[in-house]
Amino acid sequence: MKVAVLTGGGDCPGLNAVIRAIVRRAAVHGIEVMGLRDGWRGLLDDDHFRLTRESTSGILHRGGTILGTSRTNPFKVENGLERVKRAIERNGIGGIIAIGGEGTLSAATRMHDEGVKVVGVPKTIDNDLNGTDFTFGFDTAVAIATEAVDRLHSTAESHRRVIVCEVMGRHVGWIATYAGIAGGADVTLVPEVPVDLNRVAEHLKSRHATGRTFSIVVVAEGTKIKAGPGEKEHLVTSGALDEAGRPRLGGVGAFIAQELEKRTGFETRVSVLGYIQRGGTPTAHDRVLATRFGVHACDMAANGEWGQMAALRGNRILSCPLAEATRELKTVDKEFLEVARVFFG
Ligand code: F6P
Repeated sequence: MKVAVLTGGGDCPGLNAVIRAIVRRAAVHGIEVMGLRDGWRGLLDDDHFRLTRESTSGILHRGGTILGTSRTNPFKVENGLERVKRAIERNGIGGIIAIGGEGTLSAATRMHDEGVKVVGVPKTIDNDLNGTDFTFGFDTAVAIATEAVDRLHSTAESHRRVIVCEVMGRHVGWIATYAGIAGGADVTLVPEVPVDLNRVAEHLKSRHATGRTFSIVVVAEGTKIKAGPGEKEHLVTSGALDEAGRPRLGGVGAFIAQELEKRTGFETRVSVLGYIQRGGTPTAHDRVLATRFGVHACDMAANGEWGQMAALRGNRILSCPLAEATRELKTVDKEFLEVARVFFG
């Protein structure tokens, strides 16, 4: 049997660890592995190469993906499904392992409905996929964001400033909540709770009235803002669309910093972490999780468990339907937000 592996969507620390694990496990099953370049595009354009133990050696700790990635959606390309099916037949592909986030795995779910043999691996720094407790890449992003919040403390304190730190996460606040708690932020703002800027300003003023001279505000890029009472909440975007046609987020940190400075009179600055959160080497935790996912995905392909995704529940890796994973975004739950609120006012 031959399986084809693809990595789609934004890159993520741990992708190479998954690829390496699939290849190593495939040898046990006597499966040949083919790598598709740039996500679904590799299948549409017949752009691929053989993955071997040699070509995947030394990549465990490397960030990015040796396969390349894109947000190409085969269902948005003319005759995409037919082209995919023809490529599968022409190359004798027995099944596909799609490593991706919500966009890539939604396409995989639809492919499965159309009769394509596919299994999924949950990848995203955002941790917004259902069906799994955690995705790989999230731990690395949180570690980087936490270190940034730690570092911002000393400069904020020295200059007696408020510093707003904008983190990624798209429409969920997992990275912000974890980094906010771990870094001891004074305010953490997430998409799950629309933000009333007057309330945040009051909170900062009362904090500084008790002798504090600086504050750290962590904000998730997808946080919706309410500028004043009666105002409609809105999302801050760059105005541009990404490859998948979704609005490119970013800019909420600068907006909030400006508004908070106006409302409090405190000198306020912004720091946007951006791609630093998803570039570079994965943490040990993500290397292990990615490796376990890769081994399990290969076993699913060998056993013909099509339409399933490798998932983490507690400390067990199991299979969960792709449809369940992509049905809706996994937002930060109320109970967890309650814990966060103890520290953020
Ligand atoms: O989904 C991962 C992610 O890094 C999001 O947190 C972020 O909004 C988005 O990708 C940025 O994507 P792009 O690479 O298209 O700028």
